Amino acid sequence: DAEPDLAGRRVVISAGGTREAIDPVRFLGNHSSGRQGYALARTAAARGADVTLVAANVSLPDPAGVRLVRVGSAVELAEAMEAERGGADALVMTAAVADFRPVTSAASKIKKSGAAPAPIELVENPDILAGLVESRKKERSGQTIVGFAAETDDVIDNGRAKLTRKGCDLLVVNEVGAGKAFGTDDNKATVLGADGTVVDIPTGPKEDLADRVWDLVVARLPDRAS
Ligand code: PMT
Repeated sequence: DAEPDLAGRRVVISAGGTREAIDPVRFLGNHSSGRQGYALARTAAARGADVTLVAANVSLPDPAGVRLVRVGSAVELAEAMEAERGGADALVMTAAVADFRPVTSAASKIKKSGAAPAPIELVENPDILAGLVESRKKERSGQTIVGFAAETDDVIDNGRAKLTRKGCDLLVVNEVGAGKAFGTDDNKATVLGADGTVVDIPTGPKEDLADRVWDLVVARLPDRAS
């Protein structure tokens, strides 16, 4: 059995991919299956944590012993994370969040008219991870905030820039595309720390990667007042 090194700790994890409605039947989405986030939830629960899993459009079996909150869009995910963040020892953003959403969602299914298709006008979604970092600044908190970065090119350089931009403590950088990370059983990553640390996690089951991420979170946990 796993060491209960997260006993008495509360963690909030987002998983899956947001869907941004175009009309009642169509959306802008991405290929996240939720597997990496669910693996983080299962492993945290096995290590004794009180786990809240915020799932965006995931169709995997509910993990045992985990509180599940379901959301659809990026705005709903932002609201759920903001509602859950208080008192959490760690927040982990594994969800693939749409950076943009359609300005309006049509009330009825958009029909072909024979004319040229109307363009879909987009507006930027909130950056949820950066928002969680901002919220933490307003309080005295030992909370650890972990982001993930899905990159297709210049993986480490882009990861470093993202770590600085988002301001989280740890950024788990994984390569995506061409059969990598999205929907797979295995994953590999490099974890960049705001303090300059770099930890490579070799290819293996998403559970193993999740356990290595929790090891890094546990190492950052402030000692509990006795
Ligand atoms: O679900 P699986 O099929 O198992 O696949 C796992 C995964 C590839 C989705 C996962 O490992 C992963 O990389 N998740 C992050 C996906 C992502 O949105 O990456 P990003 O580089 O676009 O965003 C960086 C970070 O900012 C992420 O923590 C993301 O949750 C967050 N973000 C992004 C945009 C936004 N508007 N708000 C955010 O909070």
